[in-house]
Amino acid sequence: MPYTVHKLNDYSEETMLRAVVQFRLALKIEWFEIEQKIVNPDLTSAARQDELKKFRDRWLSRKSGQFSQINELWLKNAPADRKKSVGHLINQLKQNDLPQIEQLIEKRGFFARQSSDAILSINRIFDDEKGRKLQQETLVTQSRMNSLLQTLESLGSEELQKIAIEEFHVDLSEALEAAAKSKDLAAERLDITLPGIRRTMGAEHPVIKTMNEIIGVFRNLGYSVEEGPEIETDYYNFEALNFPPDHPARDTQDTLFIAGQESKPLRDRLLLRTHTSPVQIRTMQKMKPPVRVVCPGKVHRNDAADATHSPIFHQVEGLAVDTNITFCDLKGTLDHAMKALFGSSVKTRFYPSFFPFTEPSADVQISCIFCDGKGTRDGAPCRNCKASGWIELLGCGMVDPNVYGFVDYDATKVSGFAFGMGVERIAILKYGVDDIQLFFQGDVRFLEQFG
Ligand code: PHE
Repeated sequence: MPYTVHKLNDYSEETMLRAVVQFRLALKIEWFEIEQKIVNPDLTSAARQDELKKFRDRWLSRKSGQFSQINELWLKNAPADRKKSVGHLINQLKQNDLPQIEQLIEKRGFFARQSSDAILSINRIFDDEKGRKLQQETLVTQSRMNSLLQTLESLGSEELQKIAIEEFHVDLSEALEAAAKSKDLAAERLDITLPGIRRTMGAEHPVIKTMNEIIGVFRNLGYSVEEGPEIETDYYNFEALNFPPDHPARDTQDTLFIAGQESKPLRDRLLLRTHTSPVQIRTMQKMKPPVRVVCPGKVHRNDAADATHSPIFHQVEGLAVDTNITFCDLKGTLDHAMKALFGSSVKTRFYPSFFPFTEPSADVQISCIFCDGKGTRDGAPCRNCKASGWIELLGCGMVDPNVYGFVDYDATKVSGFAFGMGVERIAILKYGVDDIQLFFQGDVRFLEQFG
């Protein structure tokens, strides 16, 4: 009984491998037989050509050839989840064997068309030691394949794969792996009735939003923005700002120093900037008056975190230096800024204070935005201003002439003011946030309220 492709009883890996190996063995064995017939001088040329044609029809005919039958009987009947594996095995088979066999048929057609006399003389040419050895080897292969074909039923998938490699030089496991890797079609199916994935818009963090608002107020007054490094030298953070070494004001800044710098001179030691005031120095070093800048940025202090303190926070500092700048300009500017930030009914008050780099210095207080400066709310003392009606918000002052000495400005010709505010503090007041930690915890439920 000549081999024919038959239906697969099941689509287990072993069954599929067996079917593929069986197909290849049958094809090869039959081809050996055809090759012998083609050079058999006892057959007429017509008979030999006929054999070749029968072989071609049997294997390659579009309708009923064995290669087409594979699709009909294996692939079409495969259950959905095995279709990919079967498909890969079949593809490998077709891509490997089909072109080879087509080419062989084409080439052997030449011999089939020769007369028996011609075949006799051709055979004589090959009837040497090499030719006989070749023929012998072919017979051995043929019988080995025949016996393999007989035992196929008893072989497991590993042995079947081994045969494929040894006899046909193809690795069937590759095809199976490729099938396993490519996802199941069913899993890729798109259900357009499912709700879509909403890509929500990101929003500015409330601290950045507030910072930009503050900057915006000063931008409208003609200030530009300057930035500087977060890791500063002692010189920029302290010395040039008129904090002499060992001055007690340094203690108020709870500075975080970078470790292991004891061998350096104090002014070169690195620290995490405790305020953005060093940017004032850097700005004055590179710009001549008139100067109007705001310096936003992150600052660090060795503070324990609680509802009102955070070791990292943000500041916006301002600096205006020109001829004839007075404390009035400072008051007018900050009064305007507070009204722009908190509403036009807000009042400001300047309270004496101290900073090494400003003289005179002041703390700015705004009228309490929770009790409208009354100190009481709903008949009870206002908790936000501790019943004082005022909330302290920022530091400021006229730039100390000593500072000009560090940046080569002529203190007899120019004057200016500086101010600095904590961004979180302003955000807390503006948005009624009761814990500064909320800004740094990244809780979307908190953050999305500012979106
Ligand atoms: N740099 C000061 C601080 O961080 C604030 C300040 C800036 C005060 C400018 C006066 C002038 O506390």
